[in-house]
Amino acid sequence: MATDTARPSDPDVATLTADAAAKEHARLGDEIAAHDRRYYQDDAPTVSDAEYDALRRRYEAIEDAFPELKGIDSLSEKVGATPSAKFAKIRHAVPMLSLGNAFAGEEVEEFVARIRRFLGLGADAEIAMTAEPKIDGLSCSLRYENGRLMVAATRGDGFEGEDVTQNVRTISEVPQQLSAKDVPAVFEVRGEVYMRHADFAAMNERQAAASKPLFANPRNAAAGSLRQLDPKITASRPLHFFAYAWGEVSEGGLPADTQSGVIAAFKRWGLPTNPLTVVCRSAEELLAHYHMIEERRAGLGYDIDGVVYKVDSLALQRRLGFVSRSPRWALAHKFPAQRAITQLERIEIQVGRTGALTPVAKLTPITVGGVVVSNASLHNEDYIKGIGGGGEPIRGGVDIRVGDWVVIQRAGDVIPQVVGVELERRPPDAKAYEFPTLCPVCHSHAVREEGEVVRRCTGGLICAAQAVERIRHFVSRDAFDIEGLGEKQVQAFYEWGLVKQPADIFTLAARDAEPGALTRLKNRDGWGETSARNLFAAIEARRRVPVNRFLYALGIRHVGETNAKRLLRHYGTVEALREAALSAVPPGEEHPKGNDAWAEMVATEGIGAVVAEAVVDFFAEPNNQAALDALLKEVTPEPMEAVASGGAVAGKTVVFTGALEKMTRDEAKAMAERLGAKVAGSVSKKTDYVVAGADAGSKLAKARELGVAVLSEDEWLDLAGG
Ligand code: IVH
Repeated sequence: MATDTARPSDPDVATLTADAAAKEHARLGDEIAAHDRRYYQDDAPTVSDAEYDALRRRYEAIEDAFPELKGIDSLSEKVGATPSAKFAKIRHAVPMLSLGNAFAGEEVEEFVARIRRFLGLGADAEIAMTAEPKIDGLSCSLRYENGRLMVAATRGDGFEGEDVTQNVRTISEVPQQLSAKDVPAVFEVRGEVYMRHADFAAMNERQAAASKPLFANPRNAAAGSLRQLDPKITASRPLHFFAYAWGEVSEGGLPADTQSGVIAAFKRWGLPTNPLTVVCRSAEELLAHYHMIEERRAGLGYDIDGVVYKVDSLALQRRLGFVSRSPRWALAHKFPAQRAITQLERIEIQVGRTGALTPVAKLTPITVGGVVVSNASLHNEDYIKGIGGGGEPIRGGVDIRVGDWVVIQRAGDVIPQVVGVELERRPPDAKAYEFPTLCPVCHSHAVREEGEVVRRCTGGLICAAQAVERIRHFVSRDAFDIEGLGEKQVQAFYEWGLVKQPADIFTLAARDAEPGALTRLKNRDGWGETSARNLFAAIEARRRVPVNRFLYALGIRHVGETNAKRLLRHYGTVEALREAALSAVPPGEEHPKGNDAWAEMVATEGIGAVVAEAVVDFFAEPNNQAALDALLKEVTPEPMEAVASGGAVAGKTVVFTGALEKMTRDEAKAMAERLGAKVAGSVSKKTDYVVAGADAGSKLAKARELGVAVLSEDEWLDLAGG
């Protein structure tokens, strides 16, 4: 778990600036896409479903608050992942959507009540519904034309899947031909491809004997087997199928007017259907069937993760329709997570790419729901201590100690959680865990900001866990803006050992020209004479940079472009800022209110205690000072980029919202700041102008509500004299 995921400590979406929201939106988008790839394409997820859902919820919350971010890259409308490149793509004639989830019995009652309300039925009107196991495999659409199996496709992103026809033909349970008289000319059968427990165990034994990687669970094994490029391999791995739904059907071709009727026809036609499918007439009956299935779960021989309820009448299904990605007429009632008890052997600290220290429990391996678990998430320092996200006690305030017997929970997970401690079994010599205050990777100080649950490494400039991310930021457009040095190149330079910290960028050319240089850049993968020469020139051109870019490039936490300028307007140079930071003592035992230098920094316009503390922490770390000194030997900061003062917008607070046509958001912001305006992310009484582009949403409404002046893009340009 090397990445940073959304945590309870993440700031409330409502308090994010537009800038911070855009950055977080992009970061979450990348992270979700990477998880989707690992889950859907590599069949090797690295986070639990719960962690994934948390990321997704935050991503959607940000889009709700900042609708302008709902761009073409928006993930929130997608289901699953885009298909991988190795199989031909198949567009689903009818999209393959997903199901709404419930965990508690009350949610099931509410689901039934909601359907009644939607249909305008009385509170106790009877609605027939089917209940059937939710199979934990991967969904597949089988297209039959005139009874012949023509195409089989995976779900993919719900709209476009992969052509796995040849592989599905190897599943003996799937008929190649449906011969019943009432099979429509075109019929897409949908259902789940899955692997049985016994077959999974045997397959993993074979994998182990051949020193090949093991599959984490039957679902991943089924997915990996179905998505084999060589159908012979698929054929050697026993897969099964349950049919439970349908896609395109030729006009008037449905064999029944109820869900249960169509499933009965499937069975008649020779398609495998699940024998635990029943029709119920009330929420109570649904729940009774749920409990019955739950009791039989362990003996089924295949994984299920809940029970699916569907309105039986197809006419009512049509009336109910869909809400975004899922049908209003169906619900997945999930089983609670599975648990087991084992011993905590040690706690390992992993460092994410933004420096967050994450504790991971190393456990005596144990099987939880058929999967061997030896690592579990401990979330953060407070979680180990028994303190929840809101500061309230969790697990009755019991801490977690090395040597403890702990309760592990796994909900279809790959990274399970430690959710409890068996206090009565605690070894007498078990000591309270002391969370490290030094980064395990670079040994810089790791600090926790006021109100934050995450402890972070402050050695950003030298920490190997963060280096690539930091250097990428250092050379990015708003920082040093070095052309030809993108993420890919930074990653490669780091791996080749050429650039480990910012100063190395500026010594690259000289080292490259040394007679003893091992491999000249122009001879390396992806480089040539011209590109190497151009890169060295682009670097040379940046030996002098405006000091605000220099400070921003250091990547001090909370010091973005605006705060860098604020600090420099007050302190003038990075040296003066460093001196102030080194003499500042934040409030604490020795100086109850902090000393004068601290007071001065906190009082700097626009800078508060949070930013000041981050600045003090950064300079207090000797590793950062060394990296900064090395950099100052190579680069000369120049005066700040000019800020005009006299214009009509100087000193005003502006909020941009909606889509601008004449310039990008970044440009608009830079221009406003150049003219001395302050650009804010949200509208308040202090806002002077809201510049509204096309499709402006909640911010425009807020401006109207508060009586803030609203300008069009052109009016803004006129006012700003642009
Ligand atoms: S019905 C329009 N029935 O669950 C919805 N889905 O979260 C059609 N699944 O993508 C799906 N067992 O992969 C349905 N008995 C069942 C199912 C089932 C497993 C999967 C399916 C779907 C996902 C939705």
